[in-house]
Amino acid sequence: MAESIHYSPATLNTSYSAPEIINQRRVTLDALTVQPGQNILDAGCGSGFLTYELANLVGNNGTVMAIDKSEEMIDATMERCTGLGQVTSRIANVKELPFDDNHFDAVTCTQVLLYVGDVAKAIGELSRVTRNGGRVAILETDWRSAIMHSHHPELTDTIFTAWDKTVPSPNLPGRLSRLMHEAGINVTHKEAIPLLNTDFDPGNFSVSSLNWLSGNAYKRGAISKEQSALWRDDLEKLGDQGEYFFCVNRFLFIGSKI
Ligand SMILES: C[S@@+](CC[C@H](N)C(=O)[O-])C[C@H]1O[C@@H](n2cnc3c(N)ncnc32)[C@H](O)[C@@H]1O
Repeated sequence: MAESIHYSPATLNTSYSAPEIINQRRVTLDALTVQPGQNILDAGCGSGFLTYELANLVGNNGTVMAIDKSEEMIDATMERCTGLGQVTSRIANVKELPFDDNHFDAVTCTQVLLYVGDVAKAIGELSRVTRNGGRVAILETDWRSAIMHSHHPELTDTIFTAWDKTVPSPNLPGRLSRLMHEAGINVTHKEAIPLLNTDFDPGNFSVSSLNWLSGNAYKRGAISKEQSALWRDDLEKLGDQGEYFFCVNRFLFIGSKI
């Protein structure tokens, strides 16, 4: 499985501005309870939405280090955080973090580990750089929890299954508690965060994801171009009839380094 799926910051910006993803960040940050003055790592920062919010929570006396393996994402993060002197960034791999042991008060890693083959190693690194008693927050999706109302459920299944076959570590939520425990993290908070869409709105999470999801299944040879168009057109029609319905769960795990 490829660890090299390429996203552009523009791809992330649409879905990460959707109200349900804004809510996901709010739920994550409420549960993590970041304090002013803390020293935080945002591992796999993407285009920096969470980094920006963390920076505002730690304030001028705190620091946020944003790392990502993609230079393009680091550039997008630093652009978003222009004027926030508490944010610094580095290109780095979550499997080999270039920081001392026990360095951060809290570490966030949201929607990143599915792209990593050796998840145990990555979580070991997240734990290593967190100070004793510091907190680690990991958030992942399980696409098997998705409900999509469609006249072509077999295409929906094929398209979601193709996505799971594309990433090296799909369906992680079921394993996260154990993996975090084995990395020396005492998991104290587990929460499902549903992403629910009931309108065919191009700005919501699911509609903004339809093209890359079906495009991925097409590239993998799982569906034809015609099937991709059939699937999408049906969903749009359901939207016109007031019957669009999509829901998938994201799962948040937070624990303290022992
Ligand atoms: C879907 S985005 C999530 C962005 C951000 N964490 C958020 O939730 O808003 C995934 C990000 O993880 C980064 N990534 C994937 N594998 C990585 C790795 N091994 N080390 C560091 N970053 C990685 C990608 O470059 C991408 O920017």
